[in-house]
Amino acid sequence: MKPVQDLTESEATDELQRLADEIASHDLRYYQDEAPAISDADYDALKRRNSEIEARFPHLVRDNSPSLKVGAARAAAFAPVEHGVPMLSLDNAFTDEEVLEFEARVRRFLRLPDEPVWFTAEPKIDGLSASLRYENGVLVQGATRGDGRVGEDVTANLRTIKDIPHRLKGAGFPEVIEIRGEVYLGHAEFEALNQTAVAAGDRIYANPRNAASGSLRQIDPTITAARPLKFFAYAWGLLSAPFAQGQWEALEKLNSWGFDVTPEASRVADATGLLGAYRAFEARRPLMGYDIDGVVYKVDRLDWQGRLGFVSRAPRWAIAHKFPAQQARTLLEGIDLQVGRTGAVTPVARLQPVTVGGVVVRNATLHNADEIARKDIRIGDVVILQRAGDVIPQVLGPAPDTARGPEPYAFPDHCPCPLHTPLARETTAGGAETVVRRCTGELACPFQRIEHLKHFVSRRAFDIEGLGEKQLQAFFDEGLIKAPADIFRLARNEAVLSVLREREGYGEVSVRNLVAGIEARRAISLSRFIYGLGVRHIGETTAVTLARGYESLANFLAAMDLVARGDEAAIAELDALDQVGEAVIKAAQAFFDEDHNRQTVQDLAQQLDVQDAEQPKADTAVAGKTVVFTGALEKLTRDEAKAQAEALGAKVASSVSKKTDLVVAGPGAGSKLKTAAELGIRVLTEEEWLALVGPQAQ
Ligand code: IVH
Repeated sequence: MKPVQDLTESEATDELQRLADEIASHDLRYYQDEAPAISDADYDALKRRNSEIEARFPHLVRDNSPSLKVGAARAAAFAPVEHGVPMLSLDNAFTDEEVLEFEARVRRFLRLPDEPVWFTAEPKIDGLSASLRYENGVLVQGATRGDGRVGEDVTANLRTIKDIPHRLKGAGFPEVIEIRGEVYLGHAEFEALNQTAVAAGDRIYANPRNAASGSLRQIDPTITAARPLKFFAYAWGLLSAPFAQGQWEALEKLNSWGFDVTPEASRVADATGLLGAYRAFEARRPLMGYDIDGVVYKVDRLDWQGRLGFVSRAPRWAIAHKFPAQQARTLLEGIDLQVGRTGAVTPVARLQPVTVGGVVVRNATLHNADEIARKDIRIGDVVILQRAGDVIPQVLGPAPDTARGPEPYAFPDHCPCPLHTPLARETTAGGAETVVRRCTGELACPFQRIEHLKHFVSRRAFDIEGLGEKQLQAFFDEGLIKAPADIFRLARNEAVLSVLREREGYGEVSVRNLVAGIEARRAISLSRFIYGLGVRHIGETTAVTLARGYESLANFLAAMDLVARGDEAAIAELDALDQVGEAVIKAAQAFFDEDHNRQTVQDLAQQLDVQDAEQPKADTAVAGKTVVFTGALEKLTRDEAKAQAEALGAKVASSVSKKTDLVVAGPGAGSKLKTAAELGIRVLTEEEWLALVGPQAQ
């Protein structure tokens, strides 16, 4: 690319035209399709080039210049909302020099050569910004940024985010205030969301930001509600009256009104402090649990912010110091297929090891066969690899301008397992093809079998202490454990145990722990037994429903036998259970129709004492009541409190509504307590709750 200072005026005109088109097309993909085609760093580079050319040829600045726009046009589905004060953007700094220059510029502008100038250093959260309008402390409207001036009305969706108070706490807030902040999704939540999408054959999101954006811009707010979005407040727009003198104080106020503010923000005095904060964020970044793409520095004093003002679309009093993109190029040496518990096959890139963001990466996900084909990723390509925080590294596609692998990748049509079973492309209930390819070998496929075993011993299933994944894999590889029943036989097989006792690195204590862990689970609840089978679509909640519905193992197995044989009465009985639908019925049929699966289950049952399900109690003080726990509990964990309430026949809900009968509130309880008061719902302390249920809980 020609250096900007060498461009002729006509070259500059052409290039600005090209850049405007290119940036606009990327904006569309980013904002409307949530599917960016290029990395943030490449996008920033385009915008920067545009600004540099404009700086040299100010008279060539176009009306539709990307430097005059923030974001992109709105999607049509939501009503437009005009922000009381526009939502602007931030200028970026990429190098230490640019940060020094920012600080110097602020000083020059304020004519403060020597006085300390305090800044806040806040993480730049990589989500999407939202504006929340509160009138007299009540949330009346919430909007996306849109083009900065007009956004989309997503009030109903924003209301489902638990970090967003429907009513401000405390006092001292202006009568009208637009609170601004970032809607985002944590790494763990992002992974879980994508895993669910894969299991359902849905499209996956490329990164947490796209997932957050896609989740917020759902027409149906119940979908948004099911996505664990979070919100950090960091700024404000329209105000009916000032409420703070500095950014730091403002963050404290926002926090006191019930918002989460990033706990990592700090206050520093000069450019050295800014750079120190940046280094600290670089180090903390992998541990934060959510994506940040830089650090935002803001002049603390609001009167100084006022004097500094804005240039076109960004404030002079703030700058975003961006992290270098965590991307790298490396050779795609091969593609392995990984087979999950349910047989879903995921292609995994085997890469020439490369360091990305301080971590050596050897494998990365290629998502699915369609993605490989769409991007024409070939073995032998130099590919672009991206690692965002803790999220599994992903291959974005072949690197442009590099030699390509010789031929398109032919996705195997057979499972890599020794059985070599054909892979089936999955279809939805409606018959549409999905992106998922599945091995049909079920438990006969060793890859699925080991995943089943891992699920079987996992914490929420049989929870076998002393048998971790690594040890399980080792026993599986040795042929000691092939099916769940083998685990229980192993614990009583003296011959094998004595060999294990002698084993280097294993030994007496490990064997004792292993046997104790297994024996402790020989008596097991029916719901854990059912969940442990790992039947598709039968998660923990459904397993509890089935256990309560059928009461005993004998009843359950007899019913499943009939269901598998298509017995209509048995199917109707299953269908009548709460939360059981077609997916569960189909999955149960498929599972129990297999001889192999039925034998595995019978074999396992013979090793165990499966206890009849306890019915929810009907004669307790809380039977049939809906209870909400909020705030910190001191004597019980949340899980315990929930289990106890459910054992006593209560239903535990997560939000307070007209249907709520009781709210148990501990210290720090917020908006739920307020809602309870408004709705006249009985509120108990933890102590009072224990007194109410205590005698019955024994
Ligand atoms: S302050 C006038 N603080 O970055 C600008 N923005 O590129 C007010 N962002 O639109 C924004 N974390 O979506 C601010 N701690 C933070 C931020 C932050 C993320 C986003 C926000 C904004 C964009 C600017």
